[in-house]
Amino acid sequence: MYPNTRMRRLRNNHRIRGMVSEYHVRPANLMLPLFVKEGLDEGEKAEVQSMPGVYQHSLDTLVTECREARDLGIPGVILFGIPKMKDAQGSEAYNPQGIIPRAIRRIKKELGDEILVACDVCLCEYTDHGHCAPIDGDQILNDEALELYSKAALEYARAGADIIAPSDMMDGRVGAIRRMLDDNGFKDVIIMSYAVKYASAFYGPFRDAAESGFSDGPDDRKSHQMDPSNFTQAVREAELDIKEGADIIMVKPALPYLDVIKELADRFHVPVAAYQVSGEYAMLKAAALKGWLDEKEAMMESVMSIRRAGATIILTYYAKEIARVIE
Ligand code: PBG
Repeated sequence: MYPNTRMRRLRNNHRIRGMVSEYHVRPANLMLPLFVKEGLDEGEKAEVQSMPGVYQHSLDTLVTECREARDLGIPGVILFGIPKMKDAQGSEAYNPQGIIPRAIRRIKKELGDEILVACDVCLCEYTDHGHCAPIDGDQILNDEALELYSKAALEYARAGADIIAPSDMMDGRVGAIRRMLDDNGFKDVIIMSYAVKYASAFYGPFRDAAESGFSDGPDDRKSHQMDPSNFTQAVREAELDIKEGADIIMVKPALPYLDVIKELADRFHVPVAAYQVSGEYAMLKAAALKGWLDEKEAMMESVMSIRRAGATIILTYYAKEIARVIE
C-alpha cells in the first residue's frame, strides 16, 4: 500500500469530517407540501392512511402548520387543494372562492410575508374523472387545458400566492401562465415549473392524500408525464420551460432521478428544485415503523443525496423533521 492512500485520515474524527464536508442541507432550502380540504370542520385534520404524519388540513390547522414551518426556518409551503365539488372541467381549481384562494388569503392574513406560499396548479384534484386536463374519451385535451391553468394561476396570484407551480405536464403551460400573470400585473409572481415530471409509481400515496385517482379516460398519465426510460426529453422539457419563462425548474420524483437533477443543475443557470414525493416518504416511513430503518438517518441521507446531485430547493413531507434535526 502506498503511504498516501490512507483515506481514513480525513474521516478519523468529527472535526476533520466537518472540515472536509462539502454539502449542507439548511432549512432555508426546504419547502413543505400541505393538503387543504374543503368541508373539514375548523380545527379538524385527517391523517392520510398511506402517509403517517401527513394530514389533510382545515384552514386553521393549515395555518398552524405554516406557523410551525416558519418557526423552524422553512421559507415556503406548497399547497394542494381538495374541493367538495368536482366536475369535468375542474372548475373549482379556478373558482375565486375555491379552497386554494381561501387558504392563501388566510395564510397571508395571519402570517403576511413571513412565509412564501406556492400553489400547485393542476386539475387532477378538481376533475370528476381525475385527469390533469379535460378529456375526450381516451384523449387528454392539452390546448383546452392551458386556459384553465392560466385562470387558476391568476386566481392564486390575486389571492396572494408568491409562487405558481404548474404540475400538469401539458405543453405550453408555462408560457400561457406567464402571459396571464404579466398581463394582469403579477410580473413578480414566480413560476416554479414541474419541468421534468416522470410518470411514476411513487405518486401512489399522494393520490390518497389529494383524492385524485381516476375514474374515466386513460388508465395512466403516460401520455403527458415522462417515460422513466428517457433522459434526453428531460433536458428538452427543462429547456422549453426556461424559454417559456420558468424561474425555477423541478425534477420529480427525486431519489430515482438523481442523474436528471445533476444534469439540469450542471447544464442550466436557474435553480433546480427536487420533489421527494409521497412514495419516497411512504417507503422510509413504512420501513421505519417496522423498525427496519433508522428513520432520522435514512431521511437525512436521502435529502443529502438530493442536495449533492445539485438541487437547491427540496420539497419534502419531512421538511419539519429535517429542520428539527439541523437545529
Ligand atoms: C398533481 C400532482 C401530483 C403530485 C404533485 N402534483 C400527482 C400526479 O401527478 O399524479 C405528486 C406528489 C407526490 O406524490 O408527493 N398533478
